[in-house]
This record gives sequence, structure tokens and C-alpha cells, in this order.
Amino acid sequence: MKIAVIGGGSSYTPELIEGIILRATQIKADEIVLVDIEAGKEKLEIVGSLAKRMIKKSGLPITIELTFDRVKAITNADFVLTQFRVGGLDARASDERIPLKYDVIGQETVGPGGFAKALRTIPVILDICKEIEQYSNDAWLINFTNPAGIVTEAIHKYTSVKAIGLCNVPINMKQMTATILEVDRDNLNMSFAGLNHLVYATKVFVNGEDKMSTLIERIAEGRNMNMRNIHDAPWDKEFLQALNALPCPYHRYYYMMDEMLIEEKEAAELRGTRAEQVKVIEKGLFETYKNPNLDVKPKELEERGGSLYSEAAISLISSIVTNDHAIHTVNVPNNGTITDLPDNVVIEVSCTVNSEGPQPIQVGKLPPELNGLIQQIKAFEQLTIEAAVTGNKQKALLALTTNPFVPSSKVAKLLLDEILEVNQAYLPQF
Ligand code: NAD
Ligand code: G6P
Ligand code: MN
Repeated sequence: MKIAVIGGGSSYTPELIEGIILRATQIKADEIVLVDIEAGKEKLEIVGSLAKRMIKKSGLPITIELTFDRVKAITNADFVLTQFRVGGLDARASDERIPLKYDVIGQETVGPGGFAKALRTIPVILDICKEIEQYSNDAWLINFTNPAGIVTEAIHKYTSVKAIGLCNVPINMKQMTATILEVDRDNLNMSFAGLNHLVYATKVFVNGEDKMSTLIERIAEGRNMNMRNIHDAPWDKEFLQALNALPCPYHRYYYMMDEMLIEEKEAAELRGTRAEQVKVIEKGLFETYKNPNLDVKPKELEERGGSLYSEAAISLISSIVTNDHAIHTVNVPNNGTITDLPDNVVIEVSCTVNSEGPQPIQVGKLPPELNGLIQQIKAFEQLTIEAAVTGNKQKALLALTTNPFVPSSKVAKLLLDEILEVNQAYLPQF
């Protein structure tokens, strides 16, 4: 079984390799190809060497090849994993900084930052998909590239590739819930529904007992329910109790926009934006990776936001390969799962996964307090995809104006002009 990893030079690759080693007997991978672009040569070589040492230590019969030839990597692949960043961390830093100038949340995956990242990423992913259609072994595409929900929707709307969007937030929410409720993750039954970085846990059960109110109480008391990359603004107890659902860590940007914006602006001045902080973390990480005696995933990787990524990705592959019908929360076409959304949009939802792929568990109608925000963000996402594919500036303006972070069409216009100018080199469609 062949796995191709696009953006193979990512610092997350050792995560993946660890996952592949741990589940080697189920997934039976014997060929891994890490592919990157020429600009990523140094990263690919450092990460690739560590990956090879990890595989060697495992004693497993798996080959690892490093290449810049994407078609070669995709040819005959059974799974293609995408984890690339068009424009690198410099582009991310501008995604985070431009909105702040207008007192708008600057975040790499949501709001105007996520919009800009989608414009850069969608043309590349559609090219990749053409190659998957042509050269792969009818491969599954596991897309980790952000904004993961938007990118996955573009794939489903414009290609015939079997794509699943993956985010590590739901599995982390489950892990943190297990820790807070002091139960084993396997004894915890949680249902997730929403959009990527806008997902809610709508049910939390332990041995048939509803634990939502206990969980909410403990989170309101300050128990950790967050990701490394998000400011830990405390949740309001009465609000969570009224909602009676667990919002994801990214919901802070919507429900505590004022507080998050103040913190972002302060942090940008004192420590730099998250991209600027990540540059420092990455430098240290790659120095660690270079150590020829290192042959395991180093602990320092935990400083990045991608924890449990490998477990999410490789257990998902394992469910497809072994047809085990396990439950995974992933990004898939709606097709009636959430009744108030169109069929062809991508949602993040609990699914059983078998050899045919993810089968969404029916959600039905969402209550208005969840539905309202989801409808607005899905409209923003649909318009973003249309703008990214066609290069239509009116659609782009409508996308930004529809986003709740953006206060007016005037600010949307200023943001759009600046985003298009700064990203010119990555936007062939405009
Ligand atoms: P990174 O900056 O290290 O980039 C990864 C690799 O992509 C680099 O080696 C780079 O050279 C390569 N790359 C750049 N442009 C490319 C192109 N056009 N084609 C192929 N490769 C290209 O990024 P990272 O921090 O490792 O993150 C990678 C991606 O994963 C990002 O899109 C990030 O947002 C995403 N991510 C997603 C989640 C999730 O929950 N879905 C979690 C963490 C990271
Ligand atoms: C979380 C999210 C990802 C995001 C990442 C950022 O895990 O799920 O989608 O890309 O954090 O982490 P970073 O360390 O790059 O800020
Ligand atoms: Mn994510």
C-alpha cells in the first residue's frame, strides 16, 4: 500500500510516521513518498532523514522516498495526504496581520485570514486532484491543508476525487473531555456537528449517562479545553449552560470577539502573531530533527497546534482499510445530514467509517442558536470557494462582507484590495 504525503517537509511529518508505525499491522503500508516543492528542499531533507531513521528503528518493511516530482508521488498511490502551506509562514503572517490593521480578527484559518489562505490553496489543490484522478490508484485524499473544510468542499464541487477533510480539533476535544470527566476516551460517546473550526459537541455520554452539564460546569471552572495556538479566554458559564453544547476552541473568535481581538493585538506587538511565534518554534524543532541520533518523534512538537494529528489521520486510514466501522469526526459532503444546509456543502460531523469511506451520522435540524452562525459561515465559505475558483472580485467582496468578523463592506473592500495585492504571486485566478 502506497501513501503519498504532499507537503512532506512539514514539521508534522514525524507525527504521521509515528502513526504509520503504530498501526503498521492494520494499514499494511509498504511505501511512503514525501513530496515537496524545491523551496522546501532543506525541510524535506531534514524531515525525510528523521522519518527514515524512525522507520529503520521500527524494523518494518516500509520504504521512504523523497521527491519534488508530484506526479511520481501520486502515481499508484492508495492514499494521498495533503499538508502543505502555499506561501509558507510569511503568507500566514500577513493573513494574521492585515486584518488587525482594521480591528478585525487575524487568524490563519477563519475570517479574512482563512479567506486569503483559501484563495492561495484552492488552485493548487485542484491541480493536485487532476493528477490524483489521472495517476493514482483511485486514491483516497486525506486533506489536512487549511482551511480544511473550505478546501475539501472545493475538491468535492470541482473534482471526482474521494476526499476527506481532517482536523485534529474533534479528537482533541474528545481527549480533553475524557481527561476532564476522568474516563477512558473509549468509554466516552460524543457526537459532533458543524463546520471545520466551527464544530460543536452536541452530545456527551459516559456509560449511557448524559455528562454535558458536568462537562460545561468543569470547563467554566477553568479546566482546559483549548488548542496550543488559541488564546485561552475563559468561557462564560451561563452562556455555555444556555447553549447546552460544547463549542470548539475556535468558537472563541466568534463568541468572545472583542476579548480575542484585544489579546491578538497585544500579542502581535509583544510576541508577534502566531505565525511569527511558529517561525521561532520551527527553527528549534528543525535543529532537533537534525540530530542524527534522534529516531522518534520529539516532545517539542507538542508546542505546535497539531497534536493527535497522526492518530486522527492513521486511524481514519485504518478504518477504510480494515472496514471496521469506527466513528471519526471528519469533513464530508452534507447530503442531507444537517437538514438546513445544501447537499453539496462540506460539514464536519461524526461518521462511521468503512471501506466505502465515511458515512455521516444523521443530525437533522440544528437548534437556531447553532444554526444561525453555521448558516452565516457556510455562506462565507461558499462565496470564498466561488471567488477562489473563478477569480471573481464581486464574489470575493461578498465573501468578506458576509464574514461576521468584518464590520462593513467598506472594510471588506480595503481588506480585499490588500489581500489580493500582497498575495499576487500565489493568485493566478485573479
Ligand atoms: P509548513 O509551512 O511547514 O508547510 C508544509 C510544507 O508545504 C513545506 O515543506 C512547504 O515547502 C510545502 N509547500 C508549500 N507550498 C507547496 C505547494 N504548492 N505544493 C506542495 N508543497 C508545498 O506548514 P505546516 O505548519 O506543516 O502546516 C501544513 C498545513 O497543514 C497547513 O495548511 C496548515 O494550516 C495545516 N494544518 C492543518 C491542521 C488541521 O487541523 N487540519 C492542523 C495543523 C496544520
Ligand atoms: C490546530 C488546528 C489546525 C491549525 C493548527 C495551528 O491544531 O486544528 O487547523 O492549523 O492548530 O497550529 P500552529 O502551531 O501552526 O499555530
Ligand atoms: Mn484544524
